[in-house]
Amino acid sequence: MKLLYKFNLVLLLIFALGWFATAQLTRRVLQDNAKREVVSHASLMMEAAMAARDYTSNEVKPLLAKALQTQFLPQSVPSYAATQSFNKLHQAHPDYSYKEAALNPTNPRDRVVDWEADVVQQFRDHAELKELTGERQTPAGPSLYLARPIRISDGRCLACHSTPAAAPATMKALYGSNNGFGWKLGETIGSQIVSVPLAVPQREAEHAYALIMGGMGATFGVILLAVNALFYLLVLRPMNRISRIADAVSAGRLDAEHFDIKGKDEIAVLSKAFNRMRRSLEKAMALLA
Ligand code: HEC
Repeated sequence: MKLLYKFNLVLLLIFALGWFATAQLTRRVLQDNAKREVVSHASLMMEAAMAARDYTSNEVKPLLAKALQTQFLPQSVPSYAATQSFNKLHQAHPDYSYKEAALNPTNPRDRVVDWEADVVQQFRDHAELKELTGERQTPAGPSLYLARPIRISDGRCLACHSTPAAAPATMKALYGSNNGFGWKLGETIGSQIVSVPLAVPQREAEHAYALIMGGMGATFGVILLAVNALFYLLVLRPMNRISRIADAVSAGRLDAEHFDIKGKDEIAVLSKAFNRMRRSLEKAMALLA
């Protein structure tokens, strides 16, 4: 096999291995980053929902205490406040949503849908679970959800969610007596679920991946061309010439062209040695003649 082929074969093999390893690693890192970014968006939304809940129970509800005696105001309910404020965000960004999904909700809009029921069930089956994330397909593209359990850890919740008899009449007038009752202390009754779109960060990750791999491919290509050109100009071409001249000299053609390469590299050293050998040969031939 020719030297150039051997060189190229080894280079290509190294490049192919490097390419494959880089591709795997880059893709994993980029996708992990994209996911981490989306999860941090979701966490931030979850924190915002918690803030809206706290604000409502600590600051809004006390202000409404008097009005609540005669009329039930959903605005005093933390769950309502968080859901409503995120509905506004949802209108502007339909891919983002927040829901307090319950198996048996007071407000029917909070009822779990199929996949949310699975999430709630997981929290019910594993009391130690504090948070769940997962991906699912939606008509608008892939979406990531972050979920936290809603556990009844405060006896005061039961004032409105245990039995219709215990609940304020004003509340029953608004919500009826059929839903949102029968919750028990310690029970996981639902889950806060934040959904954020995955498509944009995933597309950005794909784009970065294409750029990195394209850049790497182009660099490989240029290195391959440069190595081939240098190898040809500095090694192969002088070697072909020297072997042509050696052929001619060995066939007794003393008029063969001179081979003279200036410099200090190995080929120049070889050319000098060759010329010395040629001169000795010519002298020896002259002596014989
Ligand atoms: C004063 C009555 C009252 C109390 C006390 C109360 N809730 Fe509610 N809760 C409601 C009402 C009314 C709704 C429905 C609000 C709406 O229309 O979105 C609701 C909704 C919810 C929801 C959303 C699911 C659903 O049922 O629609 C969750 C979760 C929830 N409450 C949890 C709790 C927890 C946990 C506590 C105790 C810390 C609590 N609630 C205390 C009245 C109450």
